[in-house]
Amino acid sequence: MNTTTPGSRILPAGDAALSAARDALAAGEIVAIPTETVYGLAADATNGEAVARIFAAKQRPSFNPLICHVTGIEMAESFAAFDPLSRRLAEAFWPGALTLVLPLKPGHAIHPLVTAGLDTVAVRAPKGFGAELIATLGRPLAAPSANRSGKISATTARAVADSLGEAAPLVIDGGPTPVGVESTIVKVEDGAIFLLRPGGVAAEAIEAAAGMPLRRAEANAAIQAPGMLASHYAPAARMRLNAGHVAPGEALLAYGPERIAGAETAKAVLVLSETGDLVEAAAKLFDYMGRLDATGAECIAVEPIPATGLGEAINDRLARAAAPRTIESGEDA
Ligand code: TXA
Ligand code: MG
Repeated sequence: MNTTTPGSRILPAGDAALSAARDALAAGEIVAIPTETVYGLAADATNGEAVARIFAAKQRPSFNPLICHVTGIEMAESFAAFDPLSRRLAEAFWPGALTLVLPLKPGHAIHPLVTAGLDTVAVRAPKGFGAELIATLGRPLAAPSANRSGKISATTARAVADSLGEAAPLVIDGGPTPVGVESTIVKVEDGAIFLLRPGGVAAEAIEAAAGMPLRRAEANAAIQAPGMLASHYAPAARMRLNAGHVAPGEALLAYGPERIAGAETAKAVLVLSETGDLVEAAAKLFDYMGRLDATGAECIAVEPIPATGLGEAINDRLARAAAPRTIESGEDA
């Protein structure tokens, strides 16, 4: 029996839910799905606008990188590179509650909004409905926990609907999630395994499978804080936010239907959204920053972008990119 909360449709996991979820994801919509750890709010990881909708639904104040969910090692290898130790951990714990942070391969199809512009990607193969759905869709799913930002993760479909309401139009009910806490996140660096987040797979189990002790993330603060790592994506060009005009030699990152004074003299102009659609703008942000930087302009002027909805995350990311470079690699800007 289907149940409805204002705004969200809850479908019991099964064949009908599988095709409804697949169709919605293929159309660029987001779907809340059960995994063995917690419910995830999923989107096609190769579709930037779909991924932007996740951030809008969660009301995330900034673009934290998301986990890419795959069917297994083979799908993961289409975009991420496994070192031998990471491969051994995947063989031991996938499908399951272990997330590996791996280098992205050149030419991969994962949208930069998923990774917040990092050159690494967090990957895991879930069990159950999520696994079937990814196999049916044939593409990786980006999915954070299906709750509003800053709230606890949802372990039932009801909790998802209560937390997200109409922001999660389709929720698949697979019953209470068996693990109930998020996945354990590790990253292999120079032959050592760093624990970035404790979770559903015990550290001891990973140590037993790897035959070596885990190193705690405090030992490597740069890996620990992805928000800080994200600042490494700051372009070579300076960034000038809320610009009222374009100065000589500047490139322009524009937004909305109208251009600021001097736009016609800009070295290059890219418009995040002609219509002022913040979802579209979020999906293009990392790509366009990179492209304008590649023009060699010494400064990128950025038109004002509203701070409402996804605009808060966009402005947060722009502020990080514009932060003075002396503190870029120090405090989280
Ligand atoms: O069990 C789980 O992990 C659930 C289910 C839905 O799979 N997902 C989940 O996602 O907890 P989320 O977005 O709430 O947490 C993902 C964590 C964040 O702390 C993020 O910073 C980290 O993964 N992360 C993602 N990509 C990363 C990367 N490239 N390097 C380091 N940390 C990364
Ligand atoms: Mg979460």
